[in-house]
Amino acid sequence: MARVRFLDKNLEADVALGTSILAAAQAAGAPEGSACGGVCACSTCHVYVEKGAELLSEAEEDEEDILDKAFDVRMNSRLGCQAKVLKEGLIELRISKESLDAYFNEHPNEVRD
Ligand code: FES
Repeated sequence: MARVRFLDKNLEADVALGTSILAAAQAAGAPEGSACGGVCACSTCHVYVEKGAELLSEAEEDEEDILDKAFDVRMNSRLGCQAKVLKEGLIELRISKESLDAYFNEHPNEVRD
């Protein structure tokens, strides 16, 4: 198991190895967008990994190509649907504004704090 913590939201989930960050967000109830349904065809699941990047799968070319078109990309940017937890430990991340915007557009009945 690994713990995935969403820093700005004060939410976390313990997940099995092999779980994606997007699935961890859903388990934690964290508002991470997923407009394409997790098939590496948008960038609405964009997150910033603040800790534990070495516990995640490496970014592949498809992910890099999508991130090239994302907003506010940083050194620690990942797509939540593509980054999978491969090792036990603690992963801390922040959800990008792009992803939050997408999530709340998709879930208009949820209150944004
Ligand atoms: S949900 Fe679309 S790329 Fe991750």
